Amino acid sequence: MKASAIANANIALVKYWGKRNKELMLPQTGSVSMTTDGLQSHTTVEFDLKYPEDILVVNGKEYNKGDEEYDDYVGKFLSVVREITGNQTRCKIVSNNNFPTAAGLASSAAGFAALATAVNEALGMGLDKEQLSMLARRGSGSATRSIHSGFVEWHKGEEDDGSDCMAKQLFTPEHWPEFRMVIAVTTKNDKKIKSRAGMAKTVENCPYYSVWRDEIVPRDIVTIKKAIAERDFRTLGETAELNCLKMHATAMTTNPPIIYWNAGTIDIMHAVMDWRDEGMQCYFTIDGGPQVKILCLEKDALEIANRVKQFPNVEDIIITKPGKGAMVTDEHIF
Ligand code: PMV
Repeated sequence: MKASAIANANIALVKYWGKRNKELMLPQTGSVSMTTDGLQSHTTVEFDLKYPEDILVVNGKEYNKGDEEYDDYVGKFLSVVREITGNQTRCKIVSNNNFPTAAGLASSAAGFAALATAVNEALGMGLDKEQLSMLARRGSGSATRSIHSGFVEWHKGEEDDGSDCMAKQLFTPEHWPEFRMVIAVTTKNDKKIKSRAGMAKTVENCPYYSVWRDEIVPRDIVTIKKAIAERDFRTLGETAELNCLKMHATAMTTNPPIIYWNAGTIDIMHAVMDWRDEGMQCYFTIDGGPQVKILCLEKDALEIANRVKQFPNVEDIIITKPGKGAMVTDEHIF
């Protein structure tokens, strides 16, 4: 009852921001993302009677019952797995990310996609990719999309029990191999407000939330899917950049306000707009953290990375492209 899996983070082009059911992790809207290449979480899980309690180790740090990371995330997820399988055996989980955790680089997406895949294998649950996306969803909403490779849509579903709330692949990475994201890491520190808490507050009291949910996201999903299908970079970039700003506008106009950006974030946003005015094809997107992901094509990626390097408040730069979905590996961490 031991298995390992690898999954990549995904970056949303049309964002998910708000749940309609917190327990089942059902979103208020659909969303569309790109699974990255190389922003990886590698996870090994072993269910065994030798463990009196679950043990969780993330990037070398141990978490136990009573720690937020265990209680609110992995502990809850394991309860769901135990409810589905009826197997109460405790387990040890060791997970390593090769990118900053909890700083808006979707580490929970990669982490829970890898964990769901490893658990499915270890316990012989026999879930297919779409069922696996529903299991990953119970750990972290955005993990739903990291199960699949390439470009992915998370369907919000209509059912109250979440039985139609899953991710489906739109296109494989080979559909648009020139697509790139240059990620400017403006701090490696943990963010103060986790996405989960930020989106819950936003749904609760942002005065513009219904416009985001009912008008903006449904329209942007249609536009972006067509842009990806036609490899129309300009429409994709314009739509993704504005969608990101509208998501952050809801967070910022929540009480108390949620502002994920730092000075470096804003410097790079302005730079991207200036470079675009000069004729460079580039757009930005930002998640629940201060990192800026610059959308571009292969031909401009290195030049953009070189320019971003000049900023004093950029700590790291990562170039990524459409990548693989979650998969089982026989490389165990322990
Ligand atoms: O599922 P979470 O808690 O990681 O929330 C993800 C929220 C955003 O990254 C801001 C948007 C998205 O769709 O990934």
